[in-house]
Amino acid sequence: MASPLKVGIAGLGTVGASVVRLIDEQRQQLALRTGRPIEVVAVSARSRNKDRGIDMKRLRWVADPVKLANDPGIDAFVELIGGEGGPARAAVTAALKAGKPVVTANKALLARHGIELAELAEKRGVALNFEAAAAGAIPIVKTLREGLAGNSVQRVYGILNGTCNYMLTRMEREKLSFDECLKEAQRLGYAEADPTADVDGLDAAAKAAIIASLAFHTRVGLDDVSVEGIREVTADDIREAHASGCELKLLAIAQRRDDEHAQGVSVRVHPALVPNDHPLASVHGAYNAVLVEAESAGRLMFYGQGAGGAPTASAVLSDVVAAAAHRVHG
Ligand code: HSE
Repeated sequence: MASPLKVGIAGLGTVGASVVRLIDEQRQQLALRTGRPIEVVAVSARSRNKDRGIDMKRLRWVADPVKLANDPGIDAFVELIGGEGGPARAAVTAALKAGKPVVTANKALLARHGIELAELAEKRGVALNFEAAAAGAIPIVKTLREGLAGNSVQRVYGILNGTCNYMLTRMEREKLSFDECLKEAQRLGYAEADPTADVDGLDAAAKAAIIASLAFHTRVGLDDVSVEGIREVTADDIREAHASGCELKLLAIAQRRDDEHAQGVSVRVHPALVPNDHPLASVHGAYNAVLVEAESAGRLMFYGQGAGGAPTASAVLSDVVAAAAHRVHG
């Protein structure tokens, strides 16, 4: 069997710890599937001694994520630190410069600096994979990059933030307050470290920018997305939506525009009334759904868990497997 892929992981929150656990639990199956073993050999995180439910003793500790990215003992770098700049950007840049494939779940980083990082990856001939950056466990990045490569996409829309969808579902069903629902979403590991990114729509906007860039083969950044979150949504709004046969959902909508007002791509995130008979109306809790309208394929719908440790780790792992198999996308 080929030599192992030695992986370094920076960021050991809910997702990072799940990635370590899944790689450990599936050691044999992953080796058979990829033709080589995958081993997490070194990690970097804010706190060394926190109990994460994983065996930290056999993992080499590197305090500085940039040092980890440059570490000659790792073949691939997984960035799960989060944040659009700072250590995440520095470490991803360092790993790509060092010619190592990078896997990241960091939508904020990609929505701000994705193009520059993609260009660097292309220059170095290494993979920059980010399946976990949009729609959690749903493989929408691979679907747009590979599955629909022969299609012209007209519109992509759906529910891209698990926290907001979870909160809206709980507010409606349990009549809980906004703050109670947010606390629950944080406790369950759905929300970002700073949950304002979720409730103000910025997390969904970053994902929408990534999805739009892939769907329309163009450059869409966070500043190109018009955003309104769910902070102003009240129990009355939800009740009224129900009374009119609708569900209130935070939607992300990216579409080609070619009319008298504009030509190009429009991307927006905002609360919307979804009629009960629309497929998105039955997406509840931390689930996400993405609908794609493509010229030849027609209408496609993807549904799955959009947040949480294991579902997001599943997407990270698919990219690690791709790195082990040396798959590189331009
Ligand atoms: N905070 C994000 C969400 C996590 O709730 O969707 C997954 O990206």
